[in-house]
Amino acid sequence: MVILTGNKVRIRSLESNDLEEFHQWWNDPEFAGDFASFAPMSFDEVETLVKESNFFMVERNFTDSIQKLGFVAYYNIRTDYPYLYEIGYRTLPSERRKGYTTEAVKLLVDYLFSTMDIERLESVTDIENIPSQRVLEKNGFRREGILRKRSRNNKSGYRDELMYSLLKEDRL
Ligand SMILES: CC(C)(COP(=O)(O)OP(=O)(O)OC[C@H]1O[C@@H](n2cnc3c(N)ncnc32)[C@H](O)[C@@H]1OP(=O)(O)O)[C@@H](O)C(=O)NCCC(=O)NCCS
Repeated sequence: MVILTGNKVRIRSLESNDLEEFHQWWNDPEFAGDFASFAPMSFDEVETLVKESNFFMVERNFTDSIQKLGFVAYYNIRTDYPYLYEIGYRTLPSERRKGYTTEAVKLLVDYLFSTMDIERLESVTDIENIPSQRVLEKNGFRREGILRKRSRNNKSGYRDELMYSLLKEDRL
């Protein structure tokens, strides 16, 4: 199991005994936020998603107990491009705006570049998702451009998104 510890949070590989809680989070529209194309999933579907992706639980370090805060994840979006990965993240509504996601993404990004032969990490976010844009910018990701009508959500229809990337050379 991978465990990476920062000042405020730690991230660790998601395990089978997290699945029940993770399934509840996944099916909570507040957890998904205002910009996701929200579609509830069965427990089995969530289990498959977790098996096929790379999710990390974000936790707060307490001396005598651990509090789960959300997740960060990376995905190989094109299997023919092994140097390219996308990252994603969600944090419980009650735990937002405390700097936890920014640090969790930093831990993930450092881990990925130091253990894998990655040239490019990318992340796509809604054009109005300011918190998500800030998380990326604070981790050195650069805004590349607007992807017009790339997503569709239940509340406001087709949405423009922003493409962000972080290259290996950006970190040198
Ligand atoms: C996006 C998300 C993960 C950010 O998590 P977070 O833990 O609140 O992020 P942080 O506390 O690390 O804050 C990062 C920055 O965003 C800012 N921010 C957070 N919430 C904000 C809000 N509601 N309005 C404006 N800025 C906000 C913070 O102030 C901080 O920027 P600053 O340091 O310049 O002040 C969280 O809002 C979330 O889970 N949203 C729903 C899921 C989602 O949209 N995921 C991303 C999909 S691409």
